[in-house]
Amino acid sequence: MPVDIVILAAGQGTRMNSATPKVLHPIAGKPMLQHVIDAAKQFGEVEINVVIGHGAEQVRERIVETGINWVTQAEQLGTGHAVQMALPNLRESATVLVLYGDVPLVNAATLKQLVMQVDENNMALLTVELDNPSGYGRIIRNSNGDVEEIVEQKDATEEQQKIKEGNTGIMAIHQSRLTGWLEELKNDNAQGEYYLTDIVGFASRDSVTVNALVSQSRSEVLGVNDRYQQAMLEQICQQRLAKQLMAQGVTMYDPTRFDCRGEITVGKDVLIDVNAVFEGTNSLGDNVHIEPNCYIKNATIGNNVTIKANSVLEDVTIADNCDIGPFARLRPGTNLQENAKIGNFVETKKANIGKGSKVNHLSYVGDAEIGSNSNIGAGTITCNYDGVNKHKTTIGDDAFVGSNSTLVAPVEIENGGFVGAGSTITKTVPEDNLAVGRSRQRNIEGWEKPKK
Ligand code: UD1
Ligand code: CA
Repeated sequence: MPVDIVILAAGQGTRMNSATPKVLHPIAGKPMLQHVIDAAKQFGEVEINVVIGHGAEQVRERIVETGINWVTQAEQLGTGHAVQMALPNLRESATVLVLYGDVPLVNAATLKQLVMQVDENNMALLTVELDNPSGYGRIIRNSNGDVEEIVEQKDATEEQQKIKEGNTGIMAIHQSRLTGWLEELKNDNAQGEYYLTDIVGFASRDSVTVNALVSQSRSEVLGVNDRYQQAMLEQICQQRLAKQLMAQGVTMYDPTRFDCRGEITVGKDVLIDVNAVFEGTNSLGDNVHIEPNCYIKNATIGNNVTIKANSVLEDVTIADNCDIGPFARLRPGTNLQENAKIGNFVETKKANIGKGSKVNHLSYVGDAEIGSNSNIGAGTITCNYDGVNKHKTTIGDDAFVGSNSTLVAPVEIENGGFVGAGSTITKTVPEDNLAVGRSRQRNIEGWEKPKK
């Protein structure tokens, strides 16, 4: 039987207090709605319908997915009304699986279990046992234990409110049944909404069996209504990922102080010390050591690389055996070749640093090309900006730049060029030349010290 998925994502999310629609708020660097779509896609051949309303434009812009049917619910009249908007897209005799855009950690395996139980005479419902079911619709069962209906919190009697089994909202229904029942929905309830949950009562009236699956994992059914709940789910995701990485051979001294807001792949014997934050897409080779407090975004890092404490890397590629930091800042377009070294308080940007070259202390290297085995002394600055345009500094192989030199770009130091400390270099240093670009030292004899 074909499976059609309907993801409800039209609500405002008032309690987020945000200009951004709730379903776009991220968990582990990915919009909540994207998590749900990714779970839905694990079905393979499915049609995915997403019902949007509040911030619809923003949602469509942010979620870059092909093959989704976007359905607009202009007015949010309730979950039943939302599903109704998607009805014209649903295929005849499909199993319709309803998911919520604000319940992001749903497990594809659970969903498959639900879908398997559906035909014209069976629907499926995911429920959860809660210590505090406040806010959830309650599952009403008869004396045989069969599900008879769902009563929303605001419509429930005191007796019904004591029920601990809550509705997750996730359900699967045969298309023909759903179509009929949605037509019958009324909004004569406490919230004046068309409740999707009312179809469960219609099912038991029409002798359709309601197969209730009690979720075995609390986290997969947790919804996000406010930023605190968002943070709780974030933690769950981070802990899961930390565990996965450790299973792949990563050492973490404290997995509760690990954050990856995006994707990460790792080699063997990687060490990630505390408070490392990864964003975007990162890959770490074998024996990569990340010391405390590093921020790493979109980095491709080879084997045997050490990133020392408090370093910041963004849009960089680092070859094998490089050494970076502490307190280094590698900005976009920095590429280090094998055995290169970037030391403390060094900033790089659009810079290719060749094999075995070193920029060890207190430098700015931007718009620069450095060959292999060159040494850039402490405090060297590439003056790449003339106030209007950026210019390039080219340094060959085996060059040596003395400390506190300023290299006024565009400028080139050829292979083996040697720059005396404190020089201001404005024109080419030819191969193997020594360039000294500073006024000579004068020693003045018999000089009298100033007096008080
Ligand atoms: C719903 C369920 C409740 C369940 C709970 C679990 C109903 C009537 N109630 O209540 O039984 O325990 O979820 O979290 O279904 N939405 C739309 N259009 C609308 C209204 C809602 O797209 O007109 C979307 C929201 O964006 C959200 C989802 O549907 O993603 C759930 O809506 P929400 O208002 O949060 O329902 P709850 O009151 O939490
Ligand atoms: Ca909700």
